[in-house]
Amino acid sequence: MKIASMISGCTHYTQLLSIKDNVMREEKPIAKRVKEVKFLKSFAPPLVAAFLVLSPISNTPVSSAQTVDIQRGVTLFRQACIGCHDAGGNIIQPASTLFTKDLQRNGVDTEEAIYRVTYYGKGRMPGFGKECMPRGQCTFGARLEDEEIKILAEFVKLQADQGWPSIETEEK
Ligand code: HEC
Repeated sequence: MKIASMISGCTHYTQLLSIKDNVMREEKPIAKRVKEVKFLKSFAPPLVAAFLVLSPISNTPVSSAQTVDIQRGVTLFRQACIGCHDAGGNIIQPASTLFTKDLQRNGVDTEEAIYRVTYYGKGRMPGFGKECMPRGQCTFGARLEDEEIKILAEFVKLQADQGWPSIETEEK
């Protein structure tokens, strides 16, 4: 009986030992995993920071996004429009400047109307849209992307609203 109990105690003990061993063995990977998670967590803040810095939507303030478009507007205007509309004027048809007074009188004082005139042209103004028709009404030079015309329309409207402040200094 004693021996039996000793044995059983023994087995119990070894069982306990083996359970403990199992727990220990299982604990190790868990501990390791926790460590790995901690390791990853220590990486998370810099990763999130990098993501925020690289993500244009979450990090770029609206005003700087607008500045970029104004810059693009300036560049596009210099490329395609300045020849006839320097400083918002009109060297071919002086009553059709890009100043609000003329735009209003000619019914071109909305972004949409400016877009349409720039896309399809009007009178002696050539159209710059990809699908500008008829050909004789369109520029012989490079056509503009729809997005570029949209930027130009926004830019012209903005400049008109502000009385065409000088854009000379904006580039470089
Ligand atoms: C070859 C000269 C020429 C170029 C280049 C040119 N335009 Fe014009 N633009 C004109 C003429 C001429 C008119 C007057 C058209 C009319 O009303 O019959 C005009 C009219 C306009 C009008 C309407 C102005 C008003 O008061 O009625 C807008 C807006 C305009 N142009 C925008 C642009 C933009 C933007 C560009 C560049 C993509 C551009 N133009 C390039 C000659 C030009």
